[in-house]
Amino acid sequence: MHNTFGIEAVADEFLEYHSEEELLQFIKDGRLKGRLLHIGAGSNLLFVNPIFHGTVLHSLIKGIEVICEDEDHVWVRVGAGEVWDDFVAYCVEHQWYGAENLSLVPGEVGAAAVQNIGAYGVEVKDLITVVETLGLDGEHRDFQVSECKYAYRDSIFKRPDMKHLFVTHVQLCLSKKEQYHTEYGSIKNEISKLDTLNISELRNIIIAIRQSKLPDPLILGNAGSFFKNPVVSRSKFEELNTQYEHMPYYEIDEEHFKIPAGWLIEQTGWKGRALGPAAVHDKQALVLVNLGGATGAEIVALSDTVRRAVYDKFGIEISPEVNFIS
Ligand code: EPU
Repeated sequence: MHNTFGIEAVADEFLEYHSEEELLQFIKDGRLKGRLLHIGAGSNLLFVNPIFHGTVLHSLIKGIEVICEDEDHVWVRVGAGEVWDDFVAYCVEHQWYGAENLSLVPGEVGAAAVQNIGAYGVEVKDLITVVETLGLDGEHRDFQVSECKYAYRDSIFKRPDMKHLFVTHVQLCLSKKEQYHTEYGSIKNEISKLDTLNISELRNIIIAIRQSKLPDPLILGNAGSFFKNPVVSRSKFEELNTQYEHMPYYEIDEEHFKIPAGWLIEQTGWKGRALGPAAVHDKQALVLVNLGGATGAEIVALSDTVRRAVYDKFGIEISPEVNFIS
């Protein structure tokens, strides 16, 4: 059950590999011919149907290796199958700065680079230098960060015509000089209570904030934020801002504003409500949860209902952040 939603789903075949060479061998042996789904830890997937007709592939490529360093920076190469938060913990232990705001983000390193994970003012694209891939044609190809077309929870690797590429390793650059991103509201509040700050403390603060809002998938199945925060035009933003003076927002540029979908959903009255065994989390409305035994279709039904409620109240379309697998 390789999905944190806790949904029963099986595939015709499930293959794991420990190295790029082993993956290449699968290709040469013709084992990757039919429909393919390459997954990480399954923390951002929703299996809509109980059976996936095809092969599910999972990387077990491990390792964190220093490629080079200078006085200010260190460059590391990490296997796609490393658990993302283990990598963050490793950086914090070595006092390499940059990844700590992404503490406890679920999933694995390869998927983090595909999804461009982000939290508390940092996105993984800010740290990535190169994404290494192996294609179904057997070719190894390195993508410089500028070629990855990174955007909010998006990259070139999510495009349908790029699905034949598998991320094998990710290269990242961390800082050896003490520096923090603490401008995000809830972090700022916690830090103001301290006399001095260090990287371990910041990691602990972020872990505590996440744990207070986001349910543990081992207890309550979920895939983190279910929806993306929508971006609206200035005129739409001004209309809403007049009507709801306490509405939170982030200004992207003069013409575009991001509105937290969790806030929009809460205003519709759906926070904490259930539709059968699927529910909107009571501490963070952006998260949909499996109360126990929910099917993919039941989660989709709740998602559609919540989307409609937001549209009817605000005229804003919210779209899923989670990948639907049918
Ligand atoms: N809010 C509400 N009600 C709610 C939830 C949120 O009013 O039920 C308000 C909060 O009070 C706050 C604002 O919305 O003013 C933003 O909330 P929060 O700080 O919890 O962050 P978010 O925008 O809801 C995003 C990411 C999270 C990431 C946090 C922190 C997306 C889709 N989600 O959530 O990422 O951890 O910011 O940076 O961008 C994930 O991708 O799975 C994920 C958890």
